[in-house]
Amino acid sequence: MCGIVGYTGTQAAAPVLLSGLSKLEYRGYDSAGIAVLNEGKIGLAKVKGKIANLMELTDSGKNVPGFAGIGHTRWATHGAPTDVNAHPHISSDGRFAIVHNGIIENFAVLRDELTAKGYEFLSDTDTEVVAHLIEMYYTGNFKAAVMKAVSRLEGSYALGIVCTDEPETVFAVREKSPLILGAGIGENFFASDVTALVAYTKNAIYLEDGEFAEVKPDGITVYDAAGREITKPISRITWDIEAAEKGGYDHFMLKEIMEQPRAVQATIDPRIKNGRIHLDDFEMDSAEFKNINKIVITACGSASYAGQAGRYAIEKLCRIPVTVELASELRYADPLIDEHTLLIVLSQSGETADTIAAMKECKERGARVLSIVNVVGSTIARLSDDTLYTWAGPEIAVATTKGYTTQLILLYLFAIYAADKLGRIDSAEYDRLLSEIRKIPNLLQRTIDMNHDVPALAKKYYTHNDVYFIGRNTDYAACMEGALKLKEISYVHAEAYAAGELKHGTIALIETGTPVVALCLNEALAEKTMSNIIEVKARGAEVIALAFKGNTEIIKKADDIVYIPRTEPLFADVLAVLPLQLFAYYVAKERGCDIDKPKNLAKSVTVE
Ligand code: M6R
Repeated sequence: MCGIVGYTGTQAAAPVLLSGLSKLEYRGYDSAGIAVLNEGKIGLAKVKGKIANLMELTDSGKNVPGFAGIGHTRWATHGAPTDVNAHPHISSDGRFAIVHNGIIENFAVLRDELTAKGYEFLSDTDTEVVAHLIEMYYTGNFKAAVMKAVSRLEGSYALGIVCTDEPETVFAVREKSPLILGAGIGENFFASDVTALVAYTKNAIYLEDGEFAEVKPDGITVYDAAGREITKPISRITWDIEAAEKGGYDHFMLKEIMEQPRAVQATIDPRIKNGRIHLDDFEMDSAEFKNINKIVITACGSASYAGQAGRYAIEKLCRIPVTVELASELRYADPLIDEHTLLIVLSQSGETADTIAAMKECKERGARVLSIVNVVGSTIARLSDDTLYTWAGPEIAVATTKGYTTQLILLYLFAIYAADKLGRIDSAEYDRLLSEIRKIPNLLQRTIDMNHDVPALAKKYYTHNDVYFIGRNTDYAACMEGALKLKEISYVHAEAYAAGELKHGTIALIETGTPVVALCLNEALAEKTMSNIIEVKARGAEVIALAFKGNTEIIKKADDIVYIPRTEPLFADVLAVLPLQLFAYYVAKERGCDIDKPKNLAKSVTVE
């Protein structure tokens, strides 16, 4: 989704803005631009396509001089990805430039009003209305004009604004779209996320909805929606710039796959103390747990698949009904949720618009909200009653990997914690499960070490256009994630099916040579899945089986076998998904895809 940066200070602004934008590339975009204040004018450069085009256009920023400015990567919503529709947009009088992330829902009405008043629109965007509105309300007071314009807007917006009359000031406005201020020395910044700030400062200020900031080189003033000055805490960013770089890997995705043993360790470590699970500040005693009659997990995409895997663990250990609801559906479902519901919200970015909306809907109905989030200070984290951070570090590739596995770990820990509070497991089982959790980082490393053949497997299958993933129970949950990984980065049509469902329709699609990835980790159901393998093989499928090391039965049935080390079956998905991620990665590589930035996708889906 769109990315915003802003800078004011003593450095040439354009290179800082371009460097910030390059760190936001991973969010997904199709055009980019910057506007820099210089000698009472706005220097503007914007272009369709990659940041590299903008670098070329501006000679790496050299031909857009000045010390204060704003920048943008656009992911088209209103209007095609063209030079004209790229941000920044300029007011008719050339006094204001503006960048915007989000959607102005009432833009059509505002556009008609402004057109009737003689304002001429150059672009098809919803954003341009904001530039003209500010101009319309400007009577010499920048802040007042911004406030008046913003009071007319409906929808979601993070805005960066500059005005030629205030050559050192950049305004940042936040409403339902992420925006973070970076406090430096003699220079200050803002950006859609901290990856764009961390090279310059580790001091971050998180704006809340309705707040806005006047950013100058020597200080930042934050205001509430009524324009009153407010004091905001400064948070420390805990990771380094290296964490947001490729570190020798060809792609961020591969780096992030390989980081999983360490990421999962970082998720587990702070949660186990003296052999007991501590879920940070989340506390629910037995009585409170018994007062909960269901758990609803909500999320989008991979996070919802993590929820599916977590659901099996929670239901099995806690014997509480758990449903997993896609946030985009739940938000409009008039859900049966009340104060006896615990809502678990999963989100790597913490900024997914549908997930935020579903969560608000459930909160209003009385649910207690526990979120599992990676990005510190994100909207979901701030709106939840309790948040468990996954501590996976920055995830840059659009396809989530360590975001997913670290979510799983927290769901497993939650399941054990809740089962204990509910008296559904005894202390021996508690200790056993916890010791299985502790082994997972090493087992993930062994999974990586055992799977050097995945590139060869990808070479064998990459030309196929349809791949099916089958499994039962927890295996089925991992299938969903495996299929999504393949779809999103390699553009191969991939579907996950509960193995028992095949004969109810899908098996009609199996023909000679169709690859079927069969997960056989749930040993209680292994025989059943084996039968399904035989069924698809009888129709010509080539079966790639995923099994625990030591499963020799499978050798007789499958064409290719991927092994993972043995673990507690309830937790197997966290290992199973790793070779599936690698398979998707290498298939995408064989197919020459843009792995870290797949077409049409954005890292953080901040609009509906
Ligand atoms: O940031 P979130 O976890 O809320 O994102 C949810 C989905 O958009 C995300 O998982 C998406 O499906 C990824 N591209 C999957 O790799």
